[in-house]
Amino acid sequence: MAFDIDKLHILDETPIHYLPSMSRALGIQLFMKRDDLTPFGAGGNKLRKLEYLVKDAMNKGATMLITVGGGQTNHGRQTAAMAAKYGMKCAIIAIDEYPGELTANMLLDRLFGCELILKKSDGRPDSVQLNELVDSVTQVYEKKGEKVYFIPMGGSNALGALGYYDCAIELDRQAKELGIPKARVIDTVGSQGTFSGLYLGLKDIKSELHLTGIAIMPFNEKSLKHLEKHCNEVKDTFGLDLTVDPSEFDIETGYVRGGYNLPSKEVRDAVKMVASKEGILLDPCYTGKAMAGVIDMVFEGKIQQGEDVIFIHTGGMPGLYTPAHRVEFEKELMDGVHIL
Ligand SMILES: Cc1ncc(COP(=O)(O)O)c(C=O)c1O
Repeated sequence: MAFDIDKLHILDETPIHYLPSMSRALGIQLFMKRDDLTPFGAGGNKLRKLEYLVKDAMNKGATMLITVGGGQTNHGRQTAAMAAKYGMKCAIIAIDEYPGELTANMLLDRLFGCELILKKSDGRPDSVQLNELVDSVTQVYEKKGEKVYFIPMGGSNALGALGYYDCAIELDRQAKELGIPKARVIDTVGSQGTFSGLYLGLKDIKSELHLTGIAIMPFNEKSLKHLEKHCNEVKDTFGLDLTVDPSEFDIETGYVRGGYNLPSKEVRDAVKMVASKEGILLDPCYTGKAMAGVIDMVFEGKIQQGEDVIFIHTGGMPGLYTPAHRVEFEKELMDGVHIL
């Protein structure tokens, strides 16, 4: 169903590419939906959500976007790019430490003209500290005459979820055109907005595609409840005629590898495998971790030999340059650097 809701219409359909060498290596039919190729700000999944959120901000007369995340947030970088494109100010607020160098997404944020506000944790829950900081920073900018529009972590509210509802419809049609209407779709699960949009979209159109999420940070009963509540909120807000059934959420929780964004050998190996076999760059926080999960699922028999799999590449490549990951890659890759 198409919603009578304003969005920017700046994104073209993203392609699905077949990955022949990865398919051969894993014994499956592996396709990749290239949401990393969305058209500006270095691409990524958040632009789909921001098509709705930024339009809403503009309709409300906002002059500035404020959002939150980790210091190296991909969502923040894409928000900063959108703000630049539409002539708005932008600030990203993070409870995080300065990594000692202005690299990766932080560098790109500044290129887009966005302010970065980093506060070292005082030990209280990040959400509490973030809310306080968002309030005080918003006041500062509003006193200067700005009209601030707040975008939550990952753009994952009801409006933002429509971005991946739309993607679900696009995916279903493309999969049918490719002759793989019952493929398994793999998506990383972070702030949940991508998964919820896909779940609702696929369910609403009665797609035969099967959605599997791979959690990239600990996912427990509380996360499941949150996901159910979020899906119901989207359903109610937009009047979807379906029942949200949490028993249908197929989310793999065993491939978190220690925690959010922690460097991991298996993830680096997955990033190297896709780069060296297909010339495609994943990222070390989300898509590399999900691909490491896919590789394990194949060897554990959770994904069957010959199965059709569409992996959604949600972007995040600048994360390869974040100091914590880059130093580990450097150690493993220096053997092929020949200094004469
Ligand atoms: C590259 C990348 N992939 C996947 C995700 C996860 O998407 P979501 O937060 O909607 O679960 C994010 C979120 O920041 C991301 O940056």
